[in-house]
Amino acid sequence: MTRPTQTPSPTGLKRAGFSSGFGVLAATLGSAVGLGNIWKFPYLTGANGGAGFLLVYLLATLLIGLPVMMAEITLGRTAKANPISTLQALTPNRQPWWLIGVAGMLAAFLILSFYSEVVAWVFAYVFKALRGSILSSDPQVTEAAFNALISDPLQALLWQWGVLLFIGGILLMGVTKGIEALTKKLMPLLFLLLLLLCAVSLSLDKAMEGLAFLFKPDFSKMSATVVLTAMGLAFFKLSLGMGTMMTYGSYFRDDQNIPQTTFRVMSADLCVSMLAGIAIFPAVFTFGFAPAAGPALVFITIPAVFSQIPAGQVLMVVFFVLAAVAATGAMLSMMEVPVLILHERWGLSRPKATLLTLLLLVLMGSGCALSNSTLADFKLWGLNLFDLFDVVSSNILLPIGGIFITLFVGWVWGFDKFRQALSNHGQLHNEKLVRAVFFLLRYVSPLLILIVMLKGLNVF
Ligand code: PHE
Repeated sequence: MTRPTQTPSPTGLKRAGFSSGFGVLAATLGSAVGLGNIWKFPYLTGANGGAGFLLVYLLATLLIGLPVMMAEITLGRTAKANPISTLQALTPNRQPWWLIGVAGMLAAFLILSFYSEVVAWVFAYVFKALRGSILSSDPQVTEAAFNALISDPLQALLWQWGVLLFIGGILLMGVTKGIEALTKKLMPLLFLLLLLLCAVSLSLDKAMEGLAFLFKPDFSKMSATVVLTAMGLAFFKLSLGMGTMMTYGSYFRDDQNIPQTTFRVMSADLCVSMLAGIAIFPAVFTFGFAPAAGPALVFITIPAVFSQIPAGQVLMVVFFVLAAVAATGAMLSMMEVPVLILHERWGLSRPKATLLTLLLLVLMGSGCALSNSTLADFKLWGLNLFDLFDVVSSNILLPIGGIFITLFVGWVWGFDKFRQALSNHGQLHNEKLVRAVFFLLRYVSPLLILIVMLKGLNVF
């Protein structure tokens, strides 16, 4: 079968693109599934009261996440360029919609700064797991091990720089595609291991308490901030609002089914998160951890679950290696936003763009790495740098990006062009779906994001 030729980019940029549907799914899934699922989802669910938070998160994913993801990918595929050039090329007049791309770049730097530190903890845990020193169901032991790691400035910095060097190496050697394929291959393994963890966790004494926390909503814990946090998580987990999906969309083939890819990515992403939740919360209640332990949650509870099974130590090593692989895929996709902008807009070669991005990240990231030690007292609005970068990106920048992306598609680009592009130039005839998605993009998502943001930030 001959492949349809790719339509050229209106920006005149030349692109290699993904050669197969497999590559597309691998990369998009690799971006979505990461520490957002394994680390952030459980800890935020725990800190925000459990099932009620989960419910809002699900609603945000369906009403906002899905349409925004389709919008981003469709825009990117149509223009086949970095987010700034994409928006410039598709804006009929000289309105500055390209600023979405600039905000996205800022968000990418903020997220990468703290994310690289969490990846650093994961890398460090591979080695801790190898030594067996953390395999315990005693909260005091696992908490002490985690605190020792994050409160040691040297360890925190060196592990983070190691992570950045590793990611830089992958990008500079040009083996990104290989890593994405590897991620896809290893993902089922992560899935299986999580399933095993769930089975173990469900056999624990207080499993039912854990499940009730996760699935029985208690709306007394609900507040505008909780709703905003849940929405921010929906953006973060699906890599939305900062141009990552637009950038990946720019590598999509013209015949790729965007709605189907989006549904698949969302479902897989959701499954991984749910499994992580089911693996963690029964253990939290059985062994007496605090559900609201914060960013430490996964790192202190997972060893407790592994301590309950034979060969737990080996399996825990495998778990953290798989988490590291998933996190690497997500980091690569975040890096792609600034690197591509510096490359295509500023004319830097890709290696130079990569090095510049890494240099900035070492500077900004170090601030996050030291947030639990040297810089612990340096706070803005009551938050240390690590938390500040996280909150500003997830609860402010990504939703703002989302508002402007939906407004752009809904009101500037318009229905006809969106339908053309999303339906593969008429090859996929699903009029109802296109209309429903467009309706969400034009009216529902932007308003919803705006209200949740303003309320959550106490503006009114
Ligand atoms: N979605 C990724 C995760 O869950 C994080 C991410 C956010 C990646 C934003 C790209 C852009 O880990």
